[in-house]
Amino acid sequence: MLEELTKIAVEAALKSGEILRKGFGTSFEISSKEGKNNLVTEFDKLSEETIIEYIHSVFPDHVFLAEESGKTGELLKNKVRWIIDPLDGTVNFAHGIPIFSISIAAELNREIISGVVYHPLLDELFVAQKGGGAFLNDKRLNVSDNGDLDSSMLVTGFPYNVNQNPCGCIDHFVNIIKRGIPVRRLGSAALDLAYVAAGRFDGFWEINLNPWDVAAGILLVQEAGGKVSQYNGEQYWIDNDSILATNGMIHSEISSVLTKCLC
Ligand code: IPD
Ligand code: CA
Ligand code: CA
Repeated sequence: MLEELTKIAVEAALKSGEILRKGFGTSFEISSKEGKNNLVTEFDKLSEETIIEYIHSVFPDHVFLAEESGKTGELLKNKVRWIIDPLDGTVNFAHGIPIFSISIAAELNREIISGVVYHPLLDELFVAQKGGGAFLNDKRLNVSDNGDLDSSMLVTGFPYNVNQNPCGCIDHFVNIIKRGIPVRRLGSAALDLAYVAAGRFDGFWEINLNPWDVAAGILLVQEAGGKVSQYNGEQYWIDNDSILATNGMIHSEISSVLTKCLC
């Protein structure tokens, strides 16, 4: 069952990846969603339709929680729910910046059991299965082993209403960079998490993400030996406001920085 879910998630991601690869850099329709910088392109929609259609053709009784179609599949006992971000990094995609991904996760009884994050331009396929480890193109992944926050390489992101400094997100960023720690902002939370799993980053934090941004990525981090929590260290679930994902070794130190100025 788990193997089959993962196989179908991978196939769906590869199909959608082909669409995004072809569409990237062409001229396409771009519109705004809630805020003027929260964009959606025709490729977000096409990618999502392709993924859902394919998974539905194999598992007609499964439900979906997906960003663009408004599908909000109810959580039912013993029923798989697919959580899908068909294009994570839309603002990058719309501006011709080659950093974006597809995120597909399968959830069962409030547990993510399978997760795939795919970077179609680099053909990097990150796959995790509950209890089965995390892989990048079949190579086993492990988080980094750096235990020193000040020599860490970190990544974060900002919500679309960053101008309102929700939960002090600007202050958190300032507090970290003031220490001289390198911090990247890739613009795709799913990739941020996949890169923590791959040991490229030592840690990632962000607020106000949606379940589809993180569902696959958190399983990748956990299966690569990392830790995922809320900023304050409490247990994380995909509808929580804050997420902190690290190699585990810098977790409590960065948590104490992030907890300091929470609103
Ligand atoms: C966004 C990306 C970005 C994060 C934003 C998300 P989208 O997703 O994951 O890294 O900072 O908060 O909304 O809109 O490109 O799917
Ligand atoms: Ca997203
Ligand atoms: Ca998206």
